[in-house]
Amino acid sequence: MKLLIITTMNTLKSTRTLPSAFNNYRIYHQLKCSINQYITPEYLTKRLEDLPIQFKTPKPRPWKPINLENINSRQILGIDLEVFIAILIGSINTEAPIRHYTQTSRQYLEPWYPQLAKFVGGKIAKNGQLIELGLWEKEEQRHTPVLMKVYTQLTGEKVKPNPHKARHYQPFLDSYHGLYHHGFHRVATEYGATCLYLWLMVHTTGELRAILEELVIDEINHMTKFLGFGIWAFPESNFLKIGETILKSMKGKLSYDPQQSSLMGTLNRMTEVLSWSTWSWQNRLSFMFTCTYIFYRLWGWTNQLTPAYLESLLGKPLSKDVFNESYLDK
Ligand SMILES: [Fe+2]
Ligand SMILES: [Fe+2]
Repeated sequence: MKLLIITTMNTLKSTRTLPSAFNNYRIYHQLKCSINQYITPEYLTKRLEDLPIQFKTPKPRPWKPINLENINSRQILGIDLEVFIAILIGSINTEAPIRHYTQTSRQYLEPWYPQLAKFVGGKIAKNGQLIELGLWEKEEQRHTPVLMKVYTQLTGEKVKPNPHKARHYQPFLDSYHGLYHHGFHRVATEYGATCLYLWLMVHTTGELRAILEELVIDEINHMTKFLGFGIWAFPESNFLKIGETILKSMKGKLSYDPQQSSLMGTLNRMTEVLSWSTWSWQNRLSFMFTCTYIFYRLWGWTNQLTPAYLESLLGKPLSKDVFNESYLDK
């Protein structure tokens, strides 16, 4: 009898200490599995090879049917509900000004790469009116309403988006660097969204997980297309150059300036928007692991993208001289 009591007590003690270690192991294991599943060279290559097809016949990727009415807070695992809600609000406000993002990108691209300009920002009539949506906008504009629906399911309340003030198009005299800098920022934001939604997806089950998976697939698709296009358009860009861009974009400060794009400024703003200070240490560490591991997988893939392969897919990129000539013309 005494032995049974001691054994039962030991079992109780171990089940009390096991869950957090077990959950931690489970989360990292699932993060790794999900990243290995979606960020594979084969999958990313397919997404990039889809770009010229989408230039000719743009078609939004259909989502699988999901009953959003079934979403509830019991489907969140390992993140406090308040933190999850704060992340949701931050994501809604960041996704909301999608029209502004697409039109800014269109303006940067139009003089140089009209096909990608149309892919992101659609068609504009002579009077400046938008007459056809770009595919990027069509796919991205599904995100805010669905995140708002998730918010309502989890809280029983409606949320009114408070859209983030997007940065305006700034005509650069040096359009080569202007376009590079803007494109770099776009890839970085799609990468950030991929990391966040994948990390959230792994912390959820049921319909909540299913809808986050659709968001992740959309963001991976856009990130891959923009990244591949960027490497093709700027063949001399390498990780050293990217590091230089980050340092230049910091301009010695970490604060957010709506007039000037700065990667560190955006990161700093995002930590506020996503309420980073309220996250547990386990959440912060597993999120940093997610970002690092996705970056590592992407890097591996980009090493395979030779100029010859990219040119077979997208043609010859514009040479730097073409940009320089337009610079001298002004
Ligand atoms: Fe999005
Ligand atoms: Fe996105």
